[in-house]
Amino acid sequence: MPVDIVVVGSCNLDLVVNVEHIPQVGQTVLGGDLQRIPGGKGANQAVAAARLEKSVAIVGRIGDDESGSLLQKNLEDNDVNIDYLFSSTGVPTGVALIAVQGDGDNTIVVSPGANSKLTPEDVIAAPPIAEAQVVLLQAEIPIETVLAAAEIAKGIVIWNPAPAPNEIVPLELLDLVDVLIPNKKELELLAGTEKANNLDSIVEMVQTFPCSSTIVTLGEQGAVVVASNEAVHIPAPDITPVDTTAAGDSFCAAIAASLVEGKDLIKAAQWAVQVGSATTLVAGAQPSLPTPKEVHQRLKDR
Ligand code: RIB
Repeated sequence: MPVDIVVVGSCNLDLVVNVEHIPQVGQTVLGGDLQRIPGGKGANQAVAAARLEKSVAIVGRIGDDESGSLLQKNLEDNDVNIDYLFSSTGVPTGVALIAVQGDGDNTIVVSPGANSKLTPEDVIAAPPIAEAQVVLLQAEIPIETVLAAAEIAKGIVIWNPAPAPNEIVPLELLDLVDVLIPNKKELELLAGTEKANNLDSIVEMVQTFPCSSTIVTLGEQGAVVVASNEAVHIPAPDITPVDTTAAGDSFCAAIAASLVEGKDLIKAAQWAVQVGSATTLVAGAQPSLPTPKEVHQRLKDR
């Protein structure tokens, strides 16, 4: 039976240290104990969608090392189908070095490892992509592989261009995307201008893209949905975050899950803002991804 959502994306082992303040260039700071936490934008979005009660498969690559085995087991434990999680011999599994500071903000450096070996041939070898209702893509795998997955997809294509690609994004990719979900910085990088400082400029920038709809995430300010020449701001609940890691990932997964349920984009974004906010109230990438019940509970308890 086809799954609801296929994620084509990265798997990383997150090496996380809590610090009082993220160090400046040239500065050394002391932090807490090192934590090893399953992460990667692809795997996070897959696990998030599964916790939101959707059937999910991931297409990705890990290395044949201990980290790869740990990430694979974690995906299985979270009911994510791993039939198309390939293993690369002699290549390390992706790693993310994450510093989380007191106010929950972070910096992340990713060493892609096996994620960079996921090829267009791999996605061609994965029939679930063509069968899924929603295909969810990010930018921690080669851009040509993202494009190949979007070409194969017959359902709704969501692209979260995170981290913003350094190379020029092929226009044919943006043409194939039904819902683009950048944050403000990614929007500016995609548009090639640093002007996303108010709603009007965000809408103006979004309208230069050929995608049918865009949702710009704005962190504590919520999100803006731009579709059919209309822009709607969705505010976020007033919370004090513990760790913002993976909040963007659970947001994207909640949009995908909502579209599977037949919600419109505004309703989807309202739910996704709640899910993303609830994610910031618990530390660590995948440990923080909530079930629907946990979303309500965490926001009630805050
Ligand atoms: O979005 C958060 C994720 O970004 C982390 O889990 C890390 O692995 C990087 O991919």
